[in-house]
Amino acid sequence: MSTAGSDAPALAELAPGDPRLMRTPAPAAIVIFGATGDLTQRKLLPALYSLAAQLLLPPETIIIGAARTVLSDDDFRDRMRAGVEEHGRLPIDRDVWAGFARRLQYVPLPFDDAAAYGRLRAAIEEADEHRGTRGNRLYYLATAPEFFPVIAEQLGRAGLAAEPDDGARFARLVIEKPFGSDLDSARRLNARLSAVFRERQVYRIDHYLGKETVQNLMALRFGNAIFEPIWNRRYVDHVQITVAEDLGIGSRGGYYDRSGALRDIVQNHMMQVLSLVAMEPPARFESRDVRDEKVKVLRAVPAFDAAAAVTDAVRGQYGAGWIAGERVPGYGEERGVEPGSATETFVAMRLTIENWRWSGTPFYLRTGKRLPRRATEVAIQFKPAPHLPFAAGAVEEVQPNVLTLRIQPDEGASLRFVAKVPGPRIDLRVVSMDFAYGSAFLRASPEAYERLLLDALLGDSTLFARWDEVERAWEVVDEVIRCWEDGAAPPPPVYEAGSWGPPAADDLLERDGRRWRRL
Ligand code: BG6
Repeated sequence: MSTAGSDAPALAELAPGDPRLMRTPAPAAIVIFGATGDLTQRKLLPALYSLAAQLLLPPETIIIGAARTVLSDDDFRDRMRAGVEEHGRLPIDRDVWAGFARRLQYVPLPFDDAAAYGRLRAAIEEADEHRGTRGNRLYYLATAPEFFPVIAEQLGRAGLAAEPDDGARFARLVIEKPFGSDLDSARRLNARLSAVFRERQVYRIDHYLGKETVQNLMALRFGNAIFEPIWNRRYVDHVQITVAEDLGIGSRGGYYDRSGALRDIVQNHMMQVLSLVAMEPPARFESRDVRDEKVKVLRAVPAFDAAAAVTDAVRGQYGAGWIAGERVPGYGEERGVEPGSATETFVAMRLTIENWRWSGTPFYLRTGKRLPRRATEVAIQFKPAPHLPFAAGAVEEVQPNVLTLRIQPDEGASLRFVAKVPGPRIDLRVVSMDFAYGSAFLRASPEAYERLLLDALLGDSTLFARWDEVERAWEVVDEVIRCWEDGAAPPPPVYEAGSWGPPAADDLLERDGRRWRRL
């Protein structure tokens, strides 16, 4: 028997060849651990609802929320509806919601209570038998990280982790960040997970990989013939990757104070972006090929040693200041932050990639909270023209070419070059050629979590971090963590909220005769 929602007939009516048919996964029981948390309400449920509304979730799919709080199915549905209303990309459609809500269930579950997993198993098996989920399971760990291994082990004990080799049904574990808090803890976590799940079953989320603009890095590089020949040390002077946020840490003080910008953004999101910018072309756009090429980049990045941790990595912590005309408190005054905390909210670093393509071309990374504006971009700064045949006065304005990939907001790309100012003499000025997603495609991009949840259901791990990538990214920054957490290290310098970080970040580039781009 199927209790398909009201969207079932529409799915059947899709014309052959409709791309949604090729991207519609097999029905599954999706179990979200940490279902009463912020991530579930703000991101996961809105994303699943959007997939359902776009007919990308088969109607037999069910979603089981699991968390410690005791709730009824109806309470859970109400909470999730509020989440979709407030944070969803698509407005709620009454009929779609009615079908979707019927798929939502809730199982109260203390994460370390074996008996509760028995009840979860019963709910899943019931769905297999009566709802048509066919033994397929997708477990999503959206809990505090200390529960990741506990839940995986309990799933194993309850007989819920096994996946047959013949692909007849799947059991996948999607795991949120942070994956460990340094190299050692990440290795320990991985060892515990891999005692229960095989690597092919584990989907480590880095939501940056779900962003359209991040995927576009590969489209731009490998879908065009003109960029690859100049995408190397001969033509590229240096690369700047910026993840700037104007917001502070909001209500996440408890988490953030134990994490800091290096763990929160650099080790994962920025390392992923770096590897997409610098990787060799994969033979095929397939999970193994793409991830093999990405990890090669990270292996070619020398890990920081104690000396480089001092010279090539800069940190800072925001103090009070002004953002968009509003007075904002300093980090130390935020809720959940330990008095005298030395947690960094800003990181700048200089990396190199020691391979034939990039040797000698520095990559500068910077990220921070409470910077003047929200902007994530990759800027490929090319070398200057080797010779300018123009009269001295004509070339005052000449600056090297820059290809900027705007990841967010104002998604798009632009190329800066020099052009002649109209008039009777040669007079050169910098201009820019611009591509904007909004006007080029006139269609809204899906949320990163929509794409990633769909890929996990489809078994496509291309946009998820493989263990060797995660491990190598930790190896690269591990010594920096150690230096900064050494009790003897001076506290991070304070930068004023609304500024671009501490002066040491500027010195990092000035030393090389370069400057951060003004955003
Ligand atoms: C998260 C971090 O992974 O990424 C947050 O924990 C950060 O601190 C967020 O604000 C940034 O994501 P986005 O998609 O807004 O760039």
